Amino acid sequence: MASNDSYNEIHTPEILRNVNLAPYNTLQVEALAERFVILKAAKELPVLFKNGNFTKDGVWVLGGGSNVLFQGRVQPLVLKNEIKELEVLDEDEQQVRIRSGAGMDWHQLVTYCVNQKWQGVENLALIPGTVGAAPIQNIGAYGVEVGEVFESLQAFDLQKGTFRTFEKEECDFGYRDSVFKNRYKNRFVITSVVLRLNKPPYSLNTEYQSLKKWLDRQNITNPSLEDVFRAVVAIRTDKLPNPGDLGNAGSFFKNPVITRKQFVGLKNSFPSIPFYSQPDNKIKIPAGWLIEQTGWKGKRTGNVGTYENQALVIVNHGGATGQEIWDLAQKIRTSVHKKFGIELVPEVNIVGRTNG
Ligand code: FAD
Ligand code: EPU
Repeated sequence: MASNDSYNEIHTPEILRNVNLAPYNTLQVEALAERFVILKAAKELPVLFKNGNFTKDGVWVLGGGSNVLFQGRVQPLVLKNEIKELEVLDEDEQQVRIRSGAGMDWHQLVTYCVNQKWQGVENLALIPGTVGAAPIQNIGAYGVEVGEVFESLQAFDLQKGTFRTFEKEECDFGYRDSVFKNRYKNRFVITSVVLRLNKPPYSLNTEYQSLKKWLDRQNITNPSLEDVFRAVVAIRTDKLPNPGDLGNAGSFFKNPVITRKQFVGLKNSFPSIPFYSQPDNKIKIPAGWLIEQTGWKGKRTGNVGTYENQALVIVNHGGATGQEIWDLAQKIRTSVHKKFGIELVPEVNIVGRTNG
């Protein structure tokens, strides 16, 4: 289907009905999108807006589906982002600025940057999903968050039908958090992201404990950019299940951040509790440890369970419904709350109804 634009033919994406979302989410949950559309270019958005497609039931933007839990029928229009383009905006001897389409694969972009010897995203290797989703929760791993290399993004306002640029300061990046999870939740479709990367010589971030340990074990004392990339890929491959083999969405919950006062109380009762000091006198506790202590690690109930090497990862052993996964998540939350008085908050985005 094509509509005639004055001098540029703009493709009007076809709205598909009753699409099974199982191939589009890494938890491999069956769910039905009442309406589903694949977006190939930013300029298709104003056309969809003008045709009134964004009004009824809202829009759910879908990237790689690696951080979503679908439940039953999904009423918002599912907008699958496949905007794929990459360009160098400018560069000098120290830095390069690149603009990536939101539908590009994140790990492929990281691999490309490492091959170009551009530093900044190597610690974020092997995170599944798209570039456009990276700023939503300010993806982070091995001591680095995307906000550190992020410069700006372009997004389409689903209320106003216009494009807008967000500079870094406007994104309110925090731990697994941004303005797009709060004030502007479900309001914007991110269409492209600009990152600023470093050229050699650069300093690498190898402070994260398991990264340091891996490099030590390999006797790498002066790691290169490629060494850090390889280390992150190796650690992740070892610790996290490959969603192609075992359905999962990475960490199901965020690591809780508590006050020092609350921490002191916990430390008295549980002296071996691991922790990371944060700014503002706050303490971050690994949720994986809390879950393991309640006995859920590696446990399976029906089609769902937690991963044997990482209790924070809920896995679909095959055929699990969104409701089964949600029910297990609730049981885990209850156990952790009962033992530690800590309320776990899901990192995964829940789409559709949940009973409970
Ligand atoms: P989706 O799951 O499709 O969407 C996630 C959210 O972003 C939804 O709210 C969606 O509406 C919104 N969204 C997506 N694209 C856009 C867009 N273009 N515009 C507006 N909104 C959009 N995350 C980490 O931070 N660190 C990790 O180390 C990490 N490891 C993981 C390991 C595994 C094995 C898995 C399965 C997941 C892991 N994750 C991790 C979570 C996940 O990979 C990231 O959150 C990723 O950024 C999600 O990308 P996606 O394209 O799959 O987004
Ligand atoms: N731990 C346990 N038992 C477990 C798992 C973890 O005791 O089953 C404890 C250990 O003490 C371990 C500590 O937790 O040292 C930290 O574990 P890990 O290094 O695996 O990191 P994490 O805190 O569980 C976070 C992110 C990951 C990210 C890694 C590496 C969150 C919610 N998760 O996990 O992100 O890859 O650090 O930086 O912040 C994701 O967001 O989906 C994700 C996978």
